[in-house]
Amino acid sequence: MPTTVCITGGSGFLGAMTVKLCLQRGYTVRTTTRSPSKHEARLKALVPSHADRLTVIQADLLTTDFTEIFRGCDVVMHTASPFFLRGANEDNVVKPAVEGTRNVFVACAAASVPTVILTSSTAAIYGWYGNKAPDHVMTEADWSDEAALVQHENWYCVSKTRAEKLAWALAKQYNIQLAVMNPCLIWGEMLPPALNTSSGAVLSYLDGSKTLIQNCTKCVVSVEDVALAHVLAFEQGQVDPNKVYGQRYLLVGGCPSWAQVARVLSKWALSHTSVPLPIPTIVDPDLPPIGLGAVPPNATLYDVSRAEQVGVNTCSVCPLCKTVVARGMVVVGVDWDSDVVFVSLFFLLFTRCWG
Ligand SMILES: NC(=O)c1ccc[n+]([C@@H]2O[C@H](COP(=O)([O-])OP(=O)(O)OC[C@H]3O[C@@H](n4cnc5c(N)ncnc54)[C@H](OP(=O)(O)O)[C@@H]3O)[C@@H](O)[C@H]2O)c1
Repeated sequence: MPTTVCITGGSGFLGAMTVKLCLQRGYTVRTTTRSPSKHEARLKALVPSHADRLTVIQADLLTTDFTEIFRGCDVVMHTASPFFLRGANEDNVVKPAVEGTRNVFVACAAASVPTVILTSSTAAIYGWYGNKAPDHVMTEADWSDEAALVQHENWYCVSKTRAEKLAWALAKQYNIQLAVMNPCLIWGEMLPPALNTSSGAVLSYLDGSKTLIQNCTKCVVSVEDVALAHVLAFEQGQVDPNKVYGQRYLLVGGCPSWAQVARVLSKWALSHTSVPLPIPTIVDPDLPPIGLGAVPPNATLYDVSRAEQVGVNTCSVCPLCKTVVARGMVVVGVDWDSDVVFVSLFFLLFTRCWG
C-alpha cells in the first residue's frame, strides 16, 4: 500500500512544494484549502503523471471536522496557518493557528493517525528581544519569549509559539508521534500564483518599497529543503521512531545581511533584466529595533546538526559552502504597466557565498 499523507494548506507556498514532493515520491496525497476551486487544477498540474493520486479537500482550520479527511492517513503534515504580519491580531492569526492545531490533533486522534509532522517556525524559537548573549547559538532548546512577543504585539510569532506548545501537549495526551519543523524565513520557487509573506520580503527590495537597506541580517532557508525536511522526518521516523519523533528540527540555510542580499539581487538584475530595478544601495545608518534573533546588526548564530542527523541538508544546493546560503531568490518578470506587479520567482544558483 502506498503511503497516504494529508498535507493541510497545500494551496500555500510551502504546502504546495510539500504536495509536489510527496507526489513525486509516490505517496497518495490529500490536501486541504478553504478554496479548492481556486487551487485544485494547478495543484493537480504539479505532477501531471500522478494527478490521480491527489485529492484536494475543502477545510477551514476553525470550523471543519478533519476526522474523515484524515481517516486512513499514515501521517498528517500540518502546514496550514495564517502567515501575514500587517493587520495581524489575536483573532485573525493567533486563534486560527492555535485552535486549528487543536482541531487537527483531535481529528488525528479520532481517525487513529499515528504521526504528525508540524510546521512550526523559528518564530517559536528566536523571538528574544535582546534577551540572549551576543554569542548565543540558536538551537532547538530555545523558545521565544512569549511575554515579550505579546508586549510587542508580534502576533504571528505568538501564534507559532502557542500553536507549537499546544501541539506538544496534545501529542502527549493522544499518544501521537510528533516531529516539529522550525524553519526560518523561507525563500524559493513560488508554486502558488499569489505572493506569500516571505517572498514579499524579497520583492520589497526590488519594487522600490525599500529605499534603504535594513542594517541587519536574516536567517533564510530554501522551500525545497523545508519540504524535504518534512518528508524525511516522516520517512526516517518509520525506520527509527525513537530517533526522530519527540524532536524539534531547526531549519536554517544561512544568515546573510540584507546588504549581501541586495548585492546578490543587483548582480542578478544586471545580467537578467533590461528594466532597471530600484534595488537600494545604501545601508540604513540606523539599526532596526531589537526583535528576532541576534541584536542587529549581528548575524544570528545557529546549529542545524539535528536536522542533518535525519538527512536534511539545509543548504542542499551548494554543499561546499554549508555555513552560508547558497541561493538567492529573484524576480524574473516585472510588468511595470500593470497595477499588480507580476512576479515569477526562482532560485539563482551561486557557486560562491553571498556577496
Ligand atoms: N514562509 C515562511 O517564511 C515560513 C517560515 C517559517 C514557518 N512558516 C510556516 O509555514 C506554513 C506555511 O507558510 P507559507 O509561507 O506557505 O504561507 P502561505 O503561502 O500564506 O500559506 C498559508 C496556508 O495556510 C492556509 N490557511 C491559513 N489560514 C487558514 C484557515 N483559517 N483555515 C484553513 N487553512 C488556512 C492557507 O490555505 P487557504 O487556501 O485556505 O488560504 C494556505 O494554504 C505556516 O505554518 C507558516 O507559519 C512559513
